[in-house]
Amino acid sequence: MRKLMMAANWKMNMSLADLEGYIDTLKKNRNVQSGDRLLETVLAMPYPFLFRARELIRGTRIRLGAQNAHWQERGAFTGEVSIGMLKELGVTEVILGHSERRQQFGEYDEVVAKKVQTCIHHDMRALLCVGETLEERKSGQTFSVVQRQLDAVFSGLADLTKLVIAYEPVWAIGTGVSASSAQAQEVHRFIRDKAKQKFGDAADSLLILYGGSMNLSNVRELVAQPDIDGGLIGGASLDASLFSQMLDAVLS
Ligand code: 13P
Repeated sequence: MRKLMMAANWKMNMSLADLEGYIDTLKKNRNVQSGDRLLETVLAMPYPFLFRARELIRGTRIRLGAQNAHWQERGAFTGEVSIGMLKELGVTEVILGHSERRQQFGEYDEVVAKKVQTCIHHDMRALLCVGETLEERKSGQTFSVVQRQLDAVFSGLADLTKLVIAYEPVWAIGTGVSASSAQAQEVHRFIRDKAKQKFGDAADSLLILYGGSMNLSNVRELVAQPDIDGGLIGGASLDASLFSQMLDAVLS
């Protein structure tokens, strides 16, 4: 049986002053203390919070995540942060290829693939985001877009052990309009089938998360789908008690 993962993507939100209260609230959830080992909880936060967060989560099962990184180890890359630096801070998961980075910062498939490779080289888990825009969905390109995004990464990968995939339809991100559970399941199934073609039965253990307007009212139905193994949550993860209730909901 696959584990579940619930990953909060705070994006460029929250402040250092909010950190302690947020983590205190989350710590009250038995699932992040000692509870159900089937659920992994990740907080992917802005870089400046990581150092403090590492202290605050000590003794819990919360995992520390980042939202991006450079693929090079070091060098003249002003403003960038390397994956090795994040590892030193205790980060274990890095979101890579988020659509906001693809669209607003020009990250194309080959760049995303290099980042995933570096991440895995450091024995950290890559949370690879894939997903189509509204125009692409409307013109029937959903599967070809997702396939292209997967192929770019799969071609340089030896196995799936350090990869988590998040299907995030761009039209559902931050819009309040989630994909229906059937729409999401269809693409998740496609992703698992593609992974199976390349990596065989290991694809049965691959975690595939859904992201895009996931909230307390839809999380349960989405995660009940056979190929949806959790969520990557933006807006609804900014409220610790709401996020905590979502953790409970997926296990109920
Ligand atoms: P929302 O949950 O705010 O739609 O964001 C989803 C997302 O982009 C997570 O990476």
